[in-house]
Amino acid sequence: QTSDDSPDEATLAILKPDLLANPFTVASILDEIHSHNITISRRKQVHWTWAQAGEFYSEHRERFFYQRLLGYMTSGPILALELRAPQVIARWRQLIGSTHPARMRINNPTCLRAKWGLTDTRNSFHGSDSSESAAREIAFVFSSLKT
Ligand code: TYD
Ligand code: MG
Repeated sequence: QTSDDSPDEATLAILKPDLLANPFTVASILDEIHSHNITISRRKQVHWTWAQAGEFYSEHRERFFYQRLLGYMTSGPILALELRAPQVIARWRQLIGSTHPARMRINNPTCLRAKWGLTDTRNSFHGSDSSESAAREIAFVFSSLKT
């Protein structure tokens, strides 16, 4: 990666519950993030309630996978990371790859979801999809008064 003069932006990354079962996995993913000159400016480990997961993913409430997604996201603690770097919203989405790990293992085998993702639902990573989503999601995780 060459130098980038655009200002830093922030995004929300989440390491989903299956990753947190293995501390060595988490450490290696954090190393990989740092290796791309991305700063982890805040981090928070939380175990969401059903209601918290439901609010975070409320845009998907009518989708067929919503209950399955909430089941996964409440199955154990997650590690939320606020990432900072130029263009980090798009860059983090690039690094994780798109939603379906099995497709990524064919089309983009070096991305994080290809390496670690299990299924369409249990895809191991979240990344905000726009600056509006990033602002909402960072506030949801880091400045909410409810734990
Ligand atoms: P979405 O926002 O479409 O994907 P992304 O996380 O890549 O932005 O969907 C949110 C999560 O919902 C996704 O990470 C996993 C789950 N999901 C499914 O379980 N099945 C699906 O077909 C889709 C599209 C999403
Ligand atoms: Mg999304």
